[in-house]
Amino acid sequence: MIKKGIILAGGKGTRMSPLTKAVNKQLLPIYDKPLIFYPLSILMLAKIKDILIIVNKGQLHQYKKLIPDGKNLGMKINFIEQKNPVGLPDAFILGEKFIGKNNVAMILGDNFFYGQNLSEKLYRCTNLKKGAKIILHKVTKPELFGVAKTKVNNNKILKIVEKPKKFVSDKAITGLYFFDNKVIKFSKKLKPSKRGELEITELLKKYQKINQLTSEFIGRGGAWLDTGSIEDYYKTSAFVQAVENRQGLKIACLEEISLLNKWINKKEILKQIKFYGNCEYSDYLKKIIKK
Ligand code: DAU
Repeated sequence: MIKKGIILAGGKGTRMSPLTKAVNKQLLPIYDKPLIFYPLSILMLAKIKDILIIVNKGQLHQYKKLIPDGKNLGMKINFIEQKNPVGLPDAFILGEKFIGKNNVAMILGDNFFYGQNLSEKLYRCTNLKKGAKIILHKVTKPELFGVAKTKVNNNKILKIVEKPKKFVSDKAITGLYFFDNKVIKFSKKLKPSKRGELEITELLKKYQKINQLTSEFIGRGGAWLDTGSIEDYYKTSAFVQAVENRQGLKIACLEEISLLNKWINKKEILKQIKFYGNCEYSDYLKKIIKK
């Protein structure tokens, strides 16, 4: 069972400047919550409660105001700063001590997932004993992502390319990954690519080479959105607003998930209501404890 998870939530967010000049991208709102709540909720739905959040140098205090240490959620949340955004696999080098001898999941701080049966699917992925697992989703603009070409009848991965200039596949590699402990050793062996970054696709190729890379699809009923641009932020916000208002249920309400996971009780939720203050999110929490 994978019990540890990393959220990579640094990056300079230059594409979204001036919004990101003073505030980290992952703290900007997606409708009614900071973006970081969404990837954090995904790890929580996979029943992972020991988490390392990697943030940009100088922005740690911003995160700590929002998520002090996870105790209020019945979790263990650690932070570490990344000096420069040198690439996604850097997370496993920076996180070496945190990972220890365990296997680990990683989610990118700007990735949004939503869908039916997602929790069960995620939980199944934490069963990984050996190798690496990636989550694929069909997209209309594969050139914006890392992509994987798979065999037609099964999920066997034939080819992996980062931001392909020519069409390879329309299956994007989403920013949610499950790795065994070799990920530390493999990450340390990577050399920066032409664009000067350690590439996650190169790391995945190391697993593919030894036949230890598997994949899962989110499936048609699921949504995956990468909130890389201002336009994406608005689209994702609109999606959350539409779903929440129709159902009267919040997506990524951290306390609700913790309560469902039995990590906290109603007393802790009361503390959280005090922490957030008088707001619509607190009103929702009040409804939960009345249920
Ligand atoms: O979203 C999925 C895609 O994410 C994958 O399909 C690609 O294979 C993968 O390379 C990645 O592509 P992006 O171009 O979206 O990565 P980006 O540089 O935008 O970084 C994603 C997040 O990780 C973002 O929130 C910033 C953070 N980050 C990034 C780097 C490179 C860090 O915290 N540190 C870093 O060193």
